[in-house]
Amino acid sequence: MAREKAWPATQSEWRRMHALRLHEIGGPEKLRIDDVPVPEPGAGEALVRIRAAAFNRRDVFITQGLYPGIVLPKTLGSDGAGELAELGPETGCSIEAGAEVVIDPMLGWGDDPRVWDTKSSSILGMPHDGTFAQFVVVPAANVYRKPKALSMEEAAAIPLAALTAYRALFTRAKLAAGETVLIPGVGGGVQTFTLLFAKHAGARTIVTSGSDEKLERATALGADVTFNYATTPDWHKRARAAGPIDVVVDSSGGETLAKAIDAIVPGGRIVIYGGTRGEATVKLFPLFWKHVSVLGTSMGSPQDFAGMLDFMESGALKPVIDRVYPMEEAVAAATRMASSGQFGKIVLRIDA
Ligand SMILES: NC(=O)c1ccc[n+]([C@@H]2O[C@H](COP(=O)([O-])OP(=O)(O)OC[C@H]3O[C@@H](n4cnc5c(N)ncnc54)[C@H](OP(=O)(O)O)[C@@H]3O)[C@@H](O)[C@H]2O)c1
Repeated sequence: MAREKAWPATQSEWRRMHALRLHEIGGPEKLRIDDVPVPEPGAGEALVRIRAAAFNRRDVFITQGLYPGIVLPKTLGSDGAGELAELGPETGCSIEAGAEVVIDPMLGWGDDPRVWDTKSSSILGMPHDGTFAQFVVVPAANVYRKPKALSMEEAAAIPLAALTAYRALFTRAKLAAGETVLIPGVGGGVQTFTLLFAKHAGARTIVTSGSDEKLERATALGADVTFNYATTPDWHKRARAAGPIDVVVDSSGGETLAKAIDAIVPGGRIVIYGGTRGEATVKLFPLFWKHVSVLGTSMGSPQDFAGMLDFMESGALKPVIDRVYPMEEAVAAATRMASSGQFGKIVLRIDA
């Protein structure tokens, strides 16, 4: 993937920038680097110089046309870390220009911490231009100081995935120390955070993956019990025996929900934030007979984002980074995600 021109040498030349944009639906190979104007922050907005960004499954789904409300051409990317370059008027932001920052990709959540406002909320990177660029404009309220203990690449790996995992475990499931959490598909970007956070909170974890290698890596991160769902179709029965499973956090969908209902204890909580493998069909009897709570969740409120950053601030937790790619290799990065080859987050370095 070639750039249209060399990087500018000095800050004063930053009138134009490179951005990884999608012009048409057709998969990751349709992404290309364009030379576009640097956006200007309006009232209440901030311009952030991006140093590192990261992929989420959402970016791949958008390239495949599997996402609502796609508007093209568009700079993709929800995750980003860098420096605060400039503030527009009336931001009330106390962060100084040049400070290292990380961006909350949840735009316009609204006033109710229980649920986002469906009229005002959206996720950075569609329909708004996102973080796969040298600069991005976001609401100043979405700019937070980067946790000091994390590198730019580590900080870029956090926002969307860690926010989702944090809300799923703590705000929705209200996980308590000593409980057991089932984490299907532990190799995913969000699920590696679910594992890290659950262990940090003193929970026991049972994880699944389609790859033995990923299960070994999960064990190294503290997973207590592992199953390969590809080679062990009755993993849910074995997981139930290895339980008691109090909480399930899932995004794989398909048959996983029915298996989770089978595996969970009476009174357990199942939190769902995605359906990578498609819709689920479940038997109702075990659901109501076991008094199971099924909880939906998506992204997180500003309170969730701040709580998650506090969690990361100590430096005790490091995001799991699968690989770091330069922007020119974004197609290879997104293709790796499309085939679920990764363990953890795929990061994009945005070079000067
Ligand atoms: N609602 C929200 O706010 C929100 C936020 C973030 C993500 N999501 C959704 O959550 C999903 C994961 O996102 P991500 O960015 O973490 O994606 P990702 O990094 O690509 O992870 C993909 C996941 O799918 C798992 N998987 C694939 N086949 C599976 C199977 N047969 N059984 C169990 N797991 C299977 C993978 O597990 P292994 O590789 O270990 O097998 C991995 O955990 C996507 O559908 C995404 O759209 C929703």
